[in-house]
Amino acid sequence: MSGHGTPIPMTSSKCGPLIGEAHVPGDKSISHRSLILGAMAVGETKISGLLEGDDVLDTGRAMQAFGADVINHGGGNWSVHGVGVGGFMEPEGVIDCGNSGTGVRLIMGAMATCDITATFTGDASLNGRPMARVTDPLALFGTQAYGRKGGRLPMTLVGAATPIPVEYATPVPSAQVKSAVLLAGLNAPGETIVIEKEATRDHSERMLAGFGADIKVEQTNEGRKITLQGRPELKPQTIQVPRDPSSAAFPVCAALIVEGSDVLVPNIGLNPTRAGLFETLRDMGANLEYENLREEGGEPVADLRAKYSPDMKGIDVPPHRAASMIDEYPVLSVVASFATGTTMMTGVKELRVKESDRIAAMADGLRACGVTVEDGPDWWSVEGQGPQGVKGGATCASHLDHRIAMSFMVCGMATQNPVSVDDGTPITTSFPIFEGLMGDLGAKLSKE
Ligand code: S3P
Repeated sequence: MSGHGTPIPMTSSKCGPLIGEAHVPGDKSISHRSLILGAMAVGETKISGLLEGDDVLDTGRAMQAFGADVINHGGGNWSVHGVGVGGFMEPEGVIDCGNSGTGVRLIMGAMATCDITATFTGDASLNGRPMARVTDPLALFGTQAYGRKGGRLPMTLVGAATPIPVEYATPVPSAQVKSAVLLAGLNAPGETIVIEKEATRDHSERMLAGFGADIKVEQTNEGRKITLQGRPELKPQTIQVPRDPSSAAFPVCAALIVEGSDVLVPNIGLNPTRAGLFETLRDMGANLEYENLREEGGEPVADLRAKYSPDMKGIDVPPHRAASMIDEYPVLSVVASFATGTTMMTGVKELRVKESDRIAAMADGLRACGVTVEDGPDWWSVEGQGPQGVKGGATCASHLDHRIAMSFMVCGMATQNPVSVDDGTPITTSFPIFEGLMGDLGAKLSKE
């Protein structure tokens, strides 16, 4: 539940080489889904390597409120005693999803076809984000939603007592929307179909299949078509959550811009729906190697080795790659500031409705650090200042957004003058060990 406490400013100062291994936490997307699908299975799902960030802990508490038994065994080991598809109980209180769009949207989907009513809220960031993108397709199942103007939280959902399956083409490239519809489809009789024009992260599809749902994915002329048979009995699973590529992005990008660095980030999933940043960095000329490339649980995994890369060039980031790196644009814009030439990012309007308007947040902060940034509704560009050319010396607003706070902390590791954020507390939503992990590599971070 970030953003509920007192803001704590954080400062990053130019540091010597970053050297060592960075063991980043578990994947946030897979952690949410492990808890939610575990709660919808019959029996005990065992989870190891769960991300114990605020976002995921809020989802765990929510699953408990819907009747599942969520137990923390310590050391990242958790278990969930699920209540089965359609078995959610009506929560007694309001479900507070804190800062997490993924949490609230997926949970709304999971309860939408149960004969119960639930009220959702979040922090100031989440309560400003659009929910109609989820409640519109849920209405097709028969779910009613009563929220604030513009489809904002707090919002009450009345689940469909006799849900009907739906066919839905997602109007925005969003794994959260796709997943909400699929989770709702679990308790609707017959086939629920989701069609997405652009492929978004596919963890829900993979995990639903793993839990024993009958789910089929095909490429059609309209896009990627996912067909799910409703009313399966989900079988509890033993899940080892892989490390999060979106968290790996921070030590990797820091190593690329801090002189003399050599950092190994082991065991990172390179699922093609998530690995766009690493491809982009390599296209820019980053010294980033995939070591020990292998397959684990049907997904490509590698140890990432990132070394200081003073020769990176700005590029046009292909818009078709946007979904596979949507959370990584903020830190990419930092790397782009230390490259030579202009980096142009297009097809990125989704960035405007994340935990913050990420284009505006990064553009404001980078400009204050002496970087030229231009932006429009669906694009932005960053003019590289060269490997030693970024002035820094600014305090940037993190807007209750963990990735904005961490991106500016990475920036300050290589700027001429320190960079601060007004509030570092949002970092705990996804990367609670960020400060210690980066400090162990050699970063100079301090809190006021
Ligand atoms: C997520 C999907 C993405 C991403 C978010 C996690 C998920 O959002 O930004 O951090 O786990 O499904 P959208 O699907 O809305 O783009």
